[in-house]
Amino acid sequence: MDYTKEFIKFNIIGLMRQDNMGNNMNAENKTVARKKDKSEEKINFKTWVNFIKLAAPDKKIVWSLVISLTILAVLENISPLMIRYAIDYFIQNNTTDGIILYSIIYFIIIIVIAFNTRHWLVTSGIFETDLSYNIRKKGFEHLQNLSFSFYDKWPVGWLLSRMINDVTRLCEVVSFGLIDLTWGGFTIVFTLIAMFFLNYKLALIALVGIPIIIAITIFFQKKMLQTQREIRRLNSEITGEFTEGITGAKTTKTLLREKENELEFFDTTRRMKQSSLKAAKMSSFFLPVVSFIGIIVAALILTIGGEYYQQNILEIGTLYALFTYALRIWDPIRQVAGVFREIQAAQAAAERVITLINEPVEITDSESVIKEYGLVDGEGEKPWPNLKGEIKFDNVSFYYKENEPIIENLNLTIKAGETVAIVGETGAGKTTLVNLACRFYEPQEGQILLDGINIQDLPQAFVYENLGYVLQTPHLFSGTIADNIRFGRLDATREEIEAAAKLVHADKFIEKMENGYDTFAGEGGNRLSTGEKQLVSFARAIIADPVILVLDEATSSIDTETEKQIQQAIEQVLDNRTALIIAHRLSTIKNADRILVMDDGKIIEEGSHQELIEQKGHYFNLYVGQFIIDENI
Ligand SMILES: Nc1ncnc2c1ncn2[C@@H]1O[C@H](COP(=O)(O)OP(=O)(O)OP(=O)(O)O)[C@@H](O)[C@H]1O
Ligand SMILES: [Mg+2]
Repeated sequence: MDYTKEFIKFNIIGLMRQDNMGNNMNAENKTVARKKDKSEEKINFKTWVNFIKLAAPDKKIVWSLVISLTILAVLENISPLMIRYAIDYFIQNNTTDGIILYSIIYFIIIIVIAFNTRHWLVTSGIFETDLSYNIRKKGFEHLQNLSFSFYDKWPVGWLLSRMINDVTRLCEVVSFGLIDLTWGGFTIVFTLIAMFFLNYKLALIALVGIPIIIAITIFFQKKMLQTQREIRRLNSEITGEFTEGITGAKTTKTLLREKENELEFFDTTRRMKQSSLKAAKMSSFFLPVVSFIGIIVAALILTIGGEYYQQNILEIGTLYALFTYALRIWDPIRQVAGVFREIQAAQAAAERVITLINEPVEITDSESVIKEYGLVDGEGEKPWPNLKGEIKFDNVSFYYKENEPIIENLNLTIKAGETVAIVGETGAGKTTLVNLACRFYEPQEGQILLDGINIQDLPQAFVYENLGYVLQTPHLFSGTIADNIRFGRLDATREEIEAAAKLVHADKFIEKMENGYDTFAGEGGNRLSTGEKQLVSFARAIIADPVILVLDEATSSIDTETEKQIQQAIEQVLDNRTALIIAHRLSTIKNADRILVMDDGKIIEEGSHQELIEQKGHYFNLYVGQFIIDENI
């Protein structure tokens, strides 16, 4: 049984190592990890109860596994008693009377052990898969619901590492913990009972050995825990450097940083090698020491038991059984102690995963909104209203970090159907402003109203359903181009997809691709140029026919020629919609109904293109500057 267990452990650890390759730890994460490592000192059972509650294992599977392992522990340890019987009865009395019944019983025991072994192997596999399935599902659902602000705080690599590496490790620790505790625990108990039953004096000798073995195990495990922590930390560093090396390969080349990167990497791997060797030496020392003590105890039992045998106090078969038990009891003790070490070592990972899954969702529908409107249209007391598209900022103040205000006491009304352009320098707060209008963030003061209703009193799904947003950094998913456009409206037909693409002039480049609309966009759309990604995400926003359309630098990476061509189409698209357009290239927003000039979170000028030019203020300077540059080109 031990070998199969070690074999599975080996494979799972192998898988974990592969998983680790996806780990992306930057410097900030390394500090987080180091800080968290400190909390690994003590076992906090509450953490584990919480983790198991989150992973919600199937109770039937748990019981099936526990019962199976208990039966196994008992049956495996009956064999010394069976052999004792064979020696003391068949051999000593030189008889074969009852040997058939004896053989049948022994045979049945072996068959039950075989079936049981298969059963626990399968069940433990199901148990572990069940745990990671449940927790990853919960994690994924939760990560989808979390607000923008959450993703500002936590880097993607760190989150991935939690949901992949930590979860794999925790599920392994929990399932092997359950297996080792049950099997090991029952083996210890059964062996001790059997020994006391056979000869309590000799059993007492074994009992004296137990605390010695436990003390040695704890001592070594403490030492090993420290080295393992160091190894894990270095492992994260190595995978982090690998990820940076791979994702930043192009930049590295342009900066001629290959040599420096190599030196950094070699230093980390050298430290890893040293720590791994230290760990290997330590564990190579541990097992022989434990075995040595175990063998001394067994030898003592054999010596004293031999005396008893000569004095006719003990039969030879009984001595054999006692000696066998004395040799066997140390391994389960070591394993049970090992469970606690594993639990201790994985505690920080458990805390990280729990914190992540319990992270409160900052922006959610309130109870009263759910009651009034429901989570989908028709579920609540009222049907969802028809949005006209008026957006009003009422004395809005907002910051990402306390004491660093971005927008202060802003008042602004955008009429339904109006096209408002926002211009201003980098960092002026343009994206922040539109993100507030879309409720991706909530203001700390004041309120934002849609058609006169506070946006917080409307269901989020309703707002997003009426909203089309082309983000400043367009993101595509790893399906085909058609799939990506369809994300805007899942029931869109092929004709509608093509029409949307045509409207934004994306059709030309799409049709030139190897499989046209069925070409794969690659991970995150990386097979397309930034401008092409912008066009596809533009088509994706348009196909949903939104009441409010937000374009954040939606055409910034598209060449001037194509931009001119789609300009007309954009104006046509914007007709009858409220539109917020952020643009650096001012020629694209000349026809907007109103232009807002933002600076340092404030609107410093507003009016039509003509009015602003006549004012000869900030906008005029910006425009003339760009105009001269354009003319010179
Ligand atoms: N997620 C964030 N967390 C913290 N600060 C942020 C965050 N996003 C933006 N900021 C800060 O808020 C300010 C306004 O940023 P914003 O993205 O709104 O500018 P912008 O006008 O859209 O600039 P750009 O033209 O470069 O896109 C900047 O100083 C920026 O550093
Ligand atoms: Mg921006």
